[in-house]
Amino acid sequence: MANTILVGAQWGDEGKGKIIDVLTEQADVVVRTQGGNNAGHTVFIGQKKYVLHLIPSGILRKKKTCVIGNGVVVDPIGLVSEIEGLRKIGVKVNGNLFVSETAHVVFPYHRELDAQREVLKGKNKIGTTKRGIGPAYGDKAARVGLRMIDLINAERFEQKLATKIKENNEVLKAFGAKPLSFKEVHKTYREAGNYLRPFVTNTVTLLHQAVRRGDDILFEGAQGTFLDIDHGTYPYVTSSNTTSGGACTGSGVAPNRMDRVVGVLKAYTTRVGEGPLPTESAEIADMLHAMGREFGATTGRARRCGWFDSVATRHATMVNGIDDLAVTNIDGLDTVETIKVCIGYRDGKKKYDYMPNDVEVLARCEPVYAEFPGWRTPTDKARSWKQLPPKCREYLKAIAELTEAKLFIASVGPGREQTIFV
Ligand code: GDP
Ligand code: IMO
Ligand code: MG
Repeated sequence: MANTILVGAQWGDEGKGKIIDVLTEQADVVVRTQGGNNAGHTVFIGQKKYVLHLIPSGILRKKKTCVIGNGVVVDPIGLVSEIEGLRKIGVKVNGNLFVSETAHVVFPYHRELDAQREVLKGKNKIGTTKRGIGPAYGDKAARVGLRMIDLINAERFEQKLATKIKENNEVLKAFGAKPLSFKEVHKTYREAGNYLRPFVTNTVTLLHQAVRRGDDILFEGAQGTFLDIDHGTYPYVTSSNTTSGGACTGSGVAPNRMDRVVGVLKAYTTRVGEGPLPTESAEIADMLHAMGREFGATTGRARRCGWFDSVATRHATMVNGIDDLAVTNIDGLDTVETIKVCIGYRDGKKKYDYMPNDVEVLARCEPVYAEFPGWRTPTDKARSWKQLPPKCREYLKAIAELTEAKLFIASVGPGREQTIFV
């Protein structure tokens, strides 16, 4: 399989967890390189549903090495409960999970500041997951963050935490929020640190040994291209590089060691949280929600839904260097009579065939649509390209062509077996 970077090509929740689980069969190592427990990656194995937040989705397969890389922000309490949750249902998490010692730690003050800033923003809020992601990356960039290596060093941790709590309590007080108790945070974080110590290591050298051995490494992207801090719909984005470059900086594996980029996208578009979504449509949202689909895996929020936006996905191909496409949730369109695909934007008289950088302009843009006849046949039982209805194949070929990348996987359901290699 070689070294593969997998990214979300839309606004997150494209079905990366499912595709990672499928591709992990051929991989030796699976690495998360950015984001934190804002991610929610769903994997179905038979009837059993797993939702992973920090741990790579590869953990569900035996004999795979899973790595939480240096670019991730780790909430240690969340990570401990995720490990415990997996162990309780019989998933082995022992000797197969490694956490970077230079990954930054998320603290309760990050979560509280995340929530307070959202309140202050009022109607301009981002709609974050309130997991403290923005403030944690903020501390990292400001060079005042604590890393996993600090968390597992008892003496150093106590000292550094005391300073951080004191400082952040002043900020929290200014927001009118309750200050944190050093004693309480110290106790819970020290316990989590003790629990996690065996997992914490130098993941850069670990990954280089894997590269040298010729192992196949899968880099599991979180969030999606348009939530990227540089390339997304700023400020309605997350705080990390969700595009393919983030896999290099977030793991310490260099660009010339990477072999290909797989972009995961839905056959339509969804977004959770605020910010522009040019193809948003109440019609498709109502249809999908009535089917019980498109509710967030992390926060349970109803996702906003829209038609496939090829202006956006073509941009995703450009900034990620996507070679291959995995199109998911094709079955979501099974009942639609006429399917729309956005092929351009219009802002008054001005036309765009690319995504404007100014979110205010993007928010004003009206989509220009092409229409495709729906196949109106269930696809969830299809197991080969030939078994897909001809109109469905035409649709998939068209969106791949518009996205300027090669169709690689067509996914017709959440299960492993509902995966068609094209
Ligand atoms: P991720 O964050 O990209 O891993 O995606 P999420 O897990 O947040 O959301 C994707 C949702 O779509 C999950 O509920 C998956 O089980 C589901 N899913 C993935 N692929 C398919 C598919 O082809 N068809 C259907 N019906 N569901 C799918
Ligand atoms: P996965 O990996 C979808 C969104 C939030 C919000 C914005 C900023 O499951 O695809 P944050 O908490 O990161 O500061 O929130 O980003 N967001 C996601 N949307 N899928 C995700 O992850 C997301 N992670 C963050 O809803 O709009
Ligand atoms: Mg998700």
